Amino acid sequence: MSNTYLDDLFGFTGQTAVVIGGNGTLGAEIARGLARAGANVVVAGRELSRCEGVVAELRGGSRVIAAAIDVTEHATIAALLAASLREFGRVDALVNCAGANSATPYFDVSDEEWDRILAINLRATHWGCQVFGRHMVERGGGAILNIASVSAETPLSRVFAYSASKAGVLSLTRNLGREWAKAGVRVNALCPGFFPAEQNRAILDETRVADILRHTPMGRFGRPEELVGMALLLLSPRAGSFITGGTFYVDGGFTAMTI
Ligand SMILES: NC(=O)c1ccc[n+]([C@@H]2O[C@H](COP(=O)([O-])OP(=O)(O)OC[C@H]3O[C@@H](n4cnc5c(N)ncnc54)[C@H](O)[C@@H]3O)[C@@H](O)[C@H]2O)c1
Repeated sequence: MSNTYLDDLFGFTGQTAVVIGGNGTLGAEIARGLARAGANVVVAGRELSRCEGVVAELRGGSRVIAAAIDVTEHATIAALLAASLREFGRVDALVNCAGANSATPYFDVSDEEWDRILAINLRATHWGCQVFGRHMVERGGGAILNIASVSAETPLSRVFAYSASKAGVLSLTRNLGREWAKAGVRVNALCPGFFPAEQNRAILDETRVADILRHTPMGRFGRPEELVGMALLLLSPRAGSFITGGTFYVDGGFTAMTI
């Protein structure tokens, strides 16, 4: 049964969304949600075949394409904007959802590891905002969603470079939300709690799983589809029109937990 009110409020028909990291666990689910809500979607990721796999699932009402990208190479992000404009003429929404993690004891964190995590999580988010944000500011509209983490503001054991990078993502998000507010470009951050995915598989040993579940009031991991409603709200030009520079949690209560 169709619901015109909800379509008007949350629909993306005629809009174009680019999801960087759209072949990942959370990014693919957000890309699926955007396509189901009517957006044309560019699924961009490091492995083209995996992006094409996501695209194959999404063939339906909207147009969806795959694009290869390495977020540590600025030129590939610029090429992604160019390819998106060639295909769809404009970009209304960007999701920065590539990410990498590591769980090294603090005294053992090498410069190489620190730089790699910061490059993928923070510098690439900055490049995505800079490249796509310029297009949106010139057009006079758009929305960017940066995927941060509960670890951005809450100290979390073992993931030092990751947490520092995500804190940087929140700072960048607030600054750009302020900077572009009058240009019609909104920038927000979504902080997921814990969702089993590739980048955290190696970290989720038995002890850590028990610790996480004990500290999550809902007592379970999140399911990727549970992020989609918040992502659509924050990217929506109507439902989200007065929301910018904000940080939004989808974490089963993790950040509300003390003892
Ligand atoms: N899963 C969680 O519990 C959780 C919690 C908080 C935040 N996050 C964040 O959500 C985002 C998505 O992660 P996920 O959990 O879906 O993990 P994932 O491993 O499934 O996805 C990560 C994505 O990043 C991409 N990526 C990594 N390095 C890249 C590079 N150099 N170039 C292009 N793409 C690259 C991977 O290809 C993959 O698509 C990340 O920013 C992550 O930090 C995840």
